[in-house]
Amino acid sequence: MESRVRPDQQQAFDHKFADDYRNKGIISEGHYVWVRQRRMRLAVDRVLELLDRDPAELSALVVCGGTGAEASYLADRGFGEVTNSDFSSSALEVAQKRDGRLAVRTIDIEANDVPDESYDVVMVHDGLHHLTRPVQGLNEMIRMARLAAIVVEPHLSLVGRLIGTEWEKVGDAVNYVFRWDHDLFAQTARSQLVREPTHIWTKRLWDHNQAVSKLSDWTDDETTKMAITRAVYGALSPVNRFGNNFLGVLVK
Ligand SMILES: C[S@@+](CC[C@H](N)C(=O)[O-])C[C@H]1O[C@@H](n2cnc3c(N)ncnc32)[C@H](O)[C@@H]1O
Repeated sequence: MESRVRPDQQQAFDHKFADDYRNKGIISEGHYVWVRQRRMRLAVDRVLELLDRDPAELSALVVCGGTGAEASYLADRGFGEVTNSDFSSSALEVAQKRDGRLAVRTIDIEANDVPDESYDVVMVHDGLHHLTRPVQGLNEMIRMARLAAIVVEPHLSLVGRLIGTEWEKVGDAVNYVFRWDHDLFAQTARSQLVREPTHIWTKRLWDHNQAVSKLSDWTDDETTKMAITRAVYGALSPVNRFGNNFLGVLVK
């Protein structure tokens, strides 16, 4: 199949990951690690509960996985075999150096020859909204998954419309920030499976990484930064149903 659908974006991420790794060694830091793990925990708890399976028996593939934070999280949760994939070779190099438990695989999610149902669970975190064909990206995940797909992406929201990023830039490459909601996720699954999926679960949450960073910039103390982070997200949780972050779990 044709590959390199977005050579500009692939090069931009290649440079970004190579530079970030040279400079910092890891990509996400501090309170953002907590925010990311919180949403992954909610989605992974849900998928394990719905599948009612021991994660050690399951293989997992992360697509658009960058330097492998989500893959490491799945390995921490006890998934038997975890593969981190991306179209950026420098991202995969970093992932391999960071975490020896991970297998890595170059996959362009918009153009690849991964066989159907190759992995039990397929996950994406902040990847689909970089694609020129985000819905096709989800279709590909559903195709590659034997049992379930997990999506963590921006949610359509008023806040997103008013102050969210519409056009995102990485280096010189630009992408439209595509946002999901329950109906779009469910319709994509139904039309692809040509039946009602076994389970569809979605949730909205808040992600105000930049605002929280600003609020906690005055201190270098990680404990205080974490206390501020927990307080902000705790205060927002009663209104999670208006949140700007989408969690979706599909059990085929
Ligand atoms: C914002 S980063 C997110 C990385 C990681 N999932 C995370 O949340 O930290 C988006 C990732 O998608 C990858 N990506 C963009 N388009 C892709 C494509 N067509 N196929 C595979 N990976 C792609 C980029 O290389 C990058 O690693």
